[in-house]
Amino acid sequence: METIVALCKRRGFIFQSSEIYGGINGFFDYGPLGVELKKNIRDCWWNDMVRRRDDVVGLESSIIMHPKVWEASGHVAGFTDPLVDCKVSKQRFRADQLFFSPVVVDGATVGYVSALESENTAGQLQEAAESLKRKKAIQGKLEPVQPRDMTEAKPEEIALIPSPATGEPGSLTPPRAFNMMFETYVGAMRDASAVAYLRPETAQGMFADFRPVVDTGRVKLPFGIAQIGKSFRNEITPRNFIFRSREFEQMEMEFFIHEDDDWAKWHRHWIDWCKSWLHSIGLPESHLSEYDHPKAKLAFYSKGTTDIMFRYPFGVQELWGIAARGNYDLKQHEQHSGVPQVVFDEASKKKFVPHVIEPAVGVDRIVLAVLCSAYAEEQVKDDKGNVETRVVLRLSPRVAPIKVAVLPLLKNKPELVNRAQELYRRLKRRHNVFYDESGAIGRRYRRQDEIGTPWCVTIDFDTIEKDGTFTLRDRDSMQQTRIKEEQLFALLEEKVF
Ligand code: GAP
Repeated sequence: METIVALCKRRGFIFQSSEIYGGINGFFDYGPLGVELKKNIRDCWWNDMVRRRDDVVGLESSIIMHPKVWEASGHVAGFTDPLVDCKVSKQRFRADQLFFSPVVVDGATVGYVSALESENTAGQLQEAAESLKRKKAIQGKLEPVQPRDMTEAKPEEIALIPSPATGEPGSLTPPRAFNMMFETYVGAMRDASAVAYLRPETAQGMFADFRPVVDTGRVKLPFGIAQIGKSFRNEITPRNFIFRSREFEQMEMEFFIHEDDDWAKWHRHWIDWCKSWLHSIGLPESHLSEYDHPKAKLAFYSKGTTDIMFRYPFGVQELWGIAARGNYDLKQHEQHSGVPQVVFDEASKKKFVPHVIEPAVGVDRIVLAVLCSAYAEEQVKDDKGNVETRVVLRLSPRVAPIKVAVLPLLKNKPELVNRAQELYRRLKRRHNVFYDESGAIGRRYRRQDEIGTPWCVTIDFDTIEKDGTFTLRDRDSMQQTRIKEEQLFALLEEKVF
């Protein structure tokens, strides 16, 4: 992760927000290359999910909605994470990410240890237990630790568990529910009647606008409403770079089906669609897996939720959730607003509230997955035969920020420069391309490798003196071939969209 974060900063993909003031935790800015990468991911999703399908329409709803939306959806009452405070350090922890274990020697508990969730939480707790035993100079057989998180701590244990901030027991509070919605005020008054929320998900926009879309959109079940937009969650512990942040972007789609339709079939359809879409933007299947939420942990209305998991450097984590939510959301809005959320079924002549399958993904999590799986370091030989390390981002041409770099072989030859600029301007009408004339050609290739540009074209003397072809250099194979201008355009047309 450190390597990826450093590359993102060095090459202008992603920065800490407001860094000149020391940064603000959980907020990030996308630099010139990052914004292109992210936009390409959004565009691919929008094109594949909305424009290329006949059964999905788009929506852009407002970020601040009527506060009753969030009462109806259950977010005001229940969008909480369990929070533990450390009264001494004033630090806050998510209770389900703070682990502890009794330290048991020869069957007797001699103390407690704690650790924040990591790839090796049990190992860290075991080390802490050994160290406690040594510190207390206790003889006997140390039993293996038994990690539990703070939501499972018994009241009498809480005072004995050390705070990860101070290493001492006695300062942790029992877990309490912390609502993650950001509050604000609408209008000039600053009282309870003016409270509103920054949306914690885009999904409620689709439910709240279900009627106007049905009334105007010429849609028929089964159909979906899709939206891309910012969401905000006051995460207690934002972490792992852009994986869990407080301001992030979601791409969600609500797919409405007949109440008697086979929800499991549609659920499977969308899981498969999402996986194959991820593959189409370059994520290897080997890094993807599925996790079915256990039935016992599902909300009462949920029929099933499957997460598509991605193998990040910090562990296998949720990338995309596909939930079968029954008709809970529309029914809630019907009840709270008094406006019927029904459709009329011609076949059965019945009115009913449709059910929904919801694939919901964070754009930033995709950006991170794409960067992590694309990053590679290779040993290659330079022009003089010396071995050097080549850093290469093997980004899919669909999402690469720059599609082609146009390079005149020499910058002091006007005929090469003019031809290269002519090609560059023509390509630029349709693609994001880059023109670079400074430095040795090998170094120019390396710069493009590091930011994931799939192809470089070099304009040389053969281009202007012979057949007009130029050298096309492939980022991954480093192979060079001669190619005509129309072939280059055809290649881009085939691979980029
Ligand atoms: N409408 C359903 C919903 O919002 P969710 O599992 O809470 O479900 C959906 O969020 C997706 O949004 C997640 O799978 C993840 O990709 C992304 N996401 C959620 N919280 C995030 C955060 N704090 N930072 C970045 N992405 C987040």
